[in-house]
Amino acid sequence: MATKAKFQAIRGTRDLLPPDTALWTRVEQTAHEVFATYGYGEIRPPIFEPTELFARAVGDDTDIVSKEMYTFAENPNHAYLEVLAQRIGSLSLAVNEQAALRQFLKRADEFVRIASTMIEDKDVILDDSQNSEYEVLKSKLAQLKGAAGDSSDSARPRRSQLAVEVVEKCHMLGIAERISLRPEATASVCRAYIEHNMQQLPQPVKLYYMGPMFRRERPQKGRYRQFYQIGAEILGGPDAPAIDAELIEMLMTFFDKCGLQGTELSINSIGHAADNCRRGYVAKLKAELEKVKDKLGADSQRRIETNPLRVLDSKLEHEQPIIEKLPRIADHLCDECKAHYAAVKRELDLRGVAYRENWRLVRGLDYYMRTTFEITAKGLGSQNAVCGGGRYDGLVELLSGPPAKGIGFAIGEDRLILSLQDAKSQSPVTSHQSPSVYIAWMGERAYATAIRAAKDMRNAGFRVELPPTELKFGKALERASKLGSRFALILGDNEVQSGEWTLKNLANGEQQKLTEPALLEYLKPL
Ligand code: HAM
Repeated sequence: MATKAKFQAIRGTRDLLPPDTALWTRVEQTAHEVFATYGYGEIRPPIFEPTELFARAVGDDTDIVSKEMYTFAENPNHAYLEVLAQRIGSLSLAVNEQAALRQFLKRADEFVRIASTMIEDKDVILDDSQNSEYEVLKSKLAQLKGAAGDSSDSARPRRSQLAVEVVEKCHMLGIAERISLRPEATASVCRAYIEHNMQQLPQPVKLYYMGPMFRRERPQKGRYRQFYQIGAEILGGPDAPAIDAELIEMLMTFFDKCGLQGTELSINSIGHAADNCRRGYVAKLKAELEKVKDKLGADSQRRIETNPLRVLDSKLEHEQPIIEKLPRIADHLCDECKAHYAAVKRELDLRGVAYRENWRLVRGLDYYMRTTFEITAKGLGSQNAVCGGGRYDGLVELLSGPPAKGIGFAIGEDRLILSLQDAKSQSPVTSHQSPSVYIAWMGERAYATAIRAAKDMRNAGFRVELPPTELKFGKALERASKLGSRFALILGDNEVQSGEWTLKNLANGEQQKLTEPALLEYLKPL
């Protein structure tokens, strides 16, 4: 007999289950509360966005964009148009053979038919240049059809030429817009800031978000393909160092309220993109790296070309002594960036926020400038960064918005939870998940009373378990203990008749008789 395959969560994704989810909820609740006290409002951007948004914001050459995004064609027709363009491309060399020409025209007609439906349905909006490409495509295709039956010698090169042009236009139309599951949310928040004209609100605008992000990374403890972030962004307004420091203070307050232990805050400044600042430093770094290229691993060698700063991130043992001798960015910051960094440190001191400076903290996303920071926590092994963030003045502008300063962070919620669980610093919420009262009922009249009592107690805020079918008292008490209930409320004919209910303390076995109002009074302070 054929066995049916069992379904499993996709590699790198997982189910979050009770009782763990209670801790997730508590952490999220704490974020809502703490962030509100600092004047942040919640934003819930969509989970997918145009691929181009992330490519432009996070950077084409970053690992996130070049290797890790889940990207697909927005509309199945988009993907099909790409396939059709490929097919007519491979047929275009043979259009002087009747059979190939017929196939070519059939596929090209199909392309135009699907494209025009999409345009009519507003599935794609063509800009002016795309519109003219589209008109040229239709006209070239009509000319090719006209030349189909022409048997003169001059018709052959003309047909080939027209076919090539048709293929070219199909590719150039570029209407196959791609979308990606968000690998992070800073780009989305900036997009929303621009889209909703938030620069007209009192500045800066302070927003926070929480939710799943997606990166196709190699899964391991603390690293998932669907993971959760809690993040905050400050957009617009000045770039006063007090803003950087207050954001970090809020973050540390949040971790403190969660009970996170062993946190270490590292900070750095990576200056701004100018010859007398980061650009100059990167050129110098690159030159130094070239000199030691042979001693570096393949990843670092590649990064000398794509993004030399990222070499500083390397964890490879044998590269450490080499990296230690490289020039340091702090010695190459321009005067303004140097002053900004010094002031951020002073502001952190004023707030009593402890930090460690780490000149190698460059972060893996392209949009950062000046302040960068990361927080590590205990119990996480190699994936110990529980939060990362930094300043990104200019990102809003890069995304075609008004000039605006920006700074923010994102906490890896999965890692935060792992660390909390590792330190056994779970809040009482998790241990409170078991029902406080289990109703052991027997008999029809008792059942009706039990339903009412359950409703009243739940209304009063108690966790109540009401078994859906009748159980012998012994069995019911056994269940109650297994669930970890604190009390069993025993309701049988006697109790209903007398109006005096029996409450059994399952920890010490003591029993007492109580009327319903007395019961609620008794449970209230517990
Ligand atoms: P990020 O450093 O890429 O920054 O991610 C922030 C945090 O998300 C990391 O420190 C880590 O805790 C968590 N994280 C990242 N990837 C994974 C994964 N595959 N599995 C589990 N956790 C992960 C950003 O995303 C920026 N948008 C942060 C930011 C906001 N900067 C300014 N504003």
